[in-house]
Amino acid sequence: PAANRVQVKEHLYKILVIGEFGVGKTSIIRRYTEDFFSDNYKLTIGVDFALKNLDWDETTKINLQLWDIAGHERFGHMTRVYYKYAIAAIIVFDLTRPATFQSVTKWLNDVNSKVMLANEEPVPVMLLANKCDQEETIDSNALTDFCKDYGLIGWFPTSAKRNINIDEAMKFLIEKILSLP
Ligand code: GTP
Ligand code: MG
Repeated sequence: PAANRVQVKEHLYKILVIGEFGVGKTSIIRRYTEDFFSDNYKLTIGVDFALKNLDWDETTKINLQLWDIAGHERFGHMTRVYYKYAIAAIIVFDLTRPATFQSVTKWLNDVNSKVMLANEEPVPVMLLANKCDQEETIDSNALTDFCKDYGLIGWFPTSAKRNINIDEAMKFLIEKILSLP
């Protein structure tokens, strides 16, 4: 009977993954979408894409389009084009290379100056402190304060190598996206 029929909603979300070269953007995406990891570094040239389809709940399907953007600055001039129509961003830094954290505000400014939501609010941005398998000392309070100060939605220590917190972080981000007005 018609009353039993549920309307399934399908969402397509474009999410940017940005941060300095070598921090693990491609590795995080491949872990999340293919459950694959390699220790070999193969830098991303320009931009790459990956898709992930989720049956979020009985009435919601989510198609994530992850835009894996090269961190090397020689590719940086194209970001305005790549960022268009994104609904959220993930900024990744490498816990073993503090300079990559120093660049987080640069990437945040880049996003905030080039893309916004339809209602002109900034897109939600999540911070990932990657390679936590290699560096265990994390100043959690400082990162939490940093997120608050800069309007980031939150942060997670992650390891693409050991598969730590990748699914959890993505779930958190999707929940934020779904709760956008
Ligand atoms: P670009 O494409 O140049 O911007 O770099 P990227 O951010 O995509 O980095 P990529 O994923 O290619 O990873 C760089 C290197 O770090 C590779 O050798 C990976 O194997 C390694 N790596 C990535 N994630 C982790 C992690 O969680 N732990 C460890 N130990 N190594 C990692
Ligand atoms: Mg890459």
